[in-house]
Amino acid sequence: MTVTTPVSQRPADRVVIFDTTLRDGEQSPGASMNLEEKLRIALTLEEMGVDVIEAGFPIASNGDFECVREIGRVVKTSVVAGLSRAARMDIDRAAEALQYAERRRIHTFISTSPLHMKYKLQMQPDAVVQAIADSVGHARTLVDDVEWSAEDGSRTEPDFLCRCVETAIKAGATTINIPDTVGYAVPEEYGALIRMVIERVPNSDKAVFSVHCHNDLGLAVANSLAGVANGARQVECTINGLGERAGNAALEEIVMALRTRHDAMPYTTGVRTEHITRASRLVSTITGFTVQPNKAIVGTNAFAHESGIHQDGMLKHAGTYEIMTPESVGLNRSTLVMGKHSGRAAFRAKLKELGYEEMGDNAVNDAFRRFKDLADRKKDVFDEDIVALVDDEVGRQ
Ligand code: KIV
Ligand code: ZN
Repeated sequence: MTVTTPVSQRPADRVVIFDTTLRDGEQSPGASMNLEEKLRIALTLEEMGVDVIEAGFPIASNGDFECVREIGRVVKTSVVAGLSRAARMDIDRAAEALQYAERRRIHTFISTSPLHMKYKLQMQPDAVVQAIADSVGHARTLVDDVEWSAEDGSRTEPDFLCRCVETAIKAGATTINIPDTVGYAVPEEYGALIRMVIERVPNSDKAVFSVHCHNDLGLAVANSLAGVANGARQVECTINGLGERAGNAALEEIVMALRTRHDAMPYTTGVRTEHITRASRLVSTITGFTVQPNKAIVGTNAFAHESGIHQDGMLKHAGTYEIMTPESVGLNRSTLVMGKHSGRAAFRAKLKELGYEEMGDNAVNDAFRRFKDLADRKKDVFDEDIVALVDDEVGRQ
């Protein structure tokens, strides 16, 4: 049986990072991954210091079962989780898939909102409560670490949500997750919901409260952080924000927000942030989902500067336009992109970088004029363009 750190022994400010790239992320249409690819991602997540890796949904297919089993076999330090519905067969299959995992978790869920109970489950509320007691209780006979999720939790009637959470804790759940399944919540409201549940439910200190936010309104990260500010100590997220529809909360944004703004949000994670860029590129290459250039933290423009004023500031002090260092996310350095907005100072720095250290002021000024003309005509000015332009300039003299 798995032994996990008792809730009472965790530092109060420590946020557990639960990565679900391999489960919810993979549910993104077109993002399915094979065993070898999932193993590579799982090992990268482990190296990065992710606390919990949700490796798949074992009952969903034999392929998913095998992925969870093999990830459980190779991952040593992170907890490996398998998802299951609130059914004995699902839970048994998840436990079987996790048989080799040194640290294992069964994650079981059921919908609790009126809409889901009526149309999707076609179950009465009392039957849902009974299913929670049965599923969590059964999972606890198989593993010590059981997470229970209230699917569509943010649209669940508050009294009923508290009743469900109380039932799950009584049955032995060690983590309670309140998902914003359809990305409907707004931060203040979602934070208040998390606080209300923690305050109202008896013995809520026996479980870690978790947030799991989807990005349909672009609020997944903001909602997750609001949850943390209101008592949640686990965040469920994915690399590059991969996930169903508009995706899940992006791991890199959660972790870097907590690191960069520790003054405003005094919580820590165990993630070694220098691995973020590598993990992002790996997930993007494997899934074929390119990361948008202006994506926070991992977009190609996240540490690039083109405007002359910004480039000049950057050359004087990086803090003028960067709130975190590129090295902190595993990038070598920021880039000064040469384009029509670039100024003379950046152009001079670029010439130096390209080996033209000895050019006199007149030659630099002429080359700069010609560079600006070129930048007006050409969207991207590459190093080779500048080399050609300067060599031409030198040849004229
Ligand atoms: O979004 C959701 O509600 C889920 C649950 C299965 C946790 O992914
Ligand atoms: Zn989800």
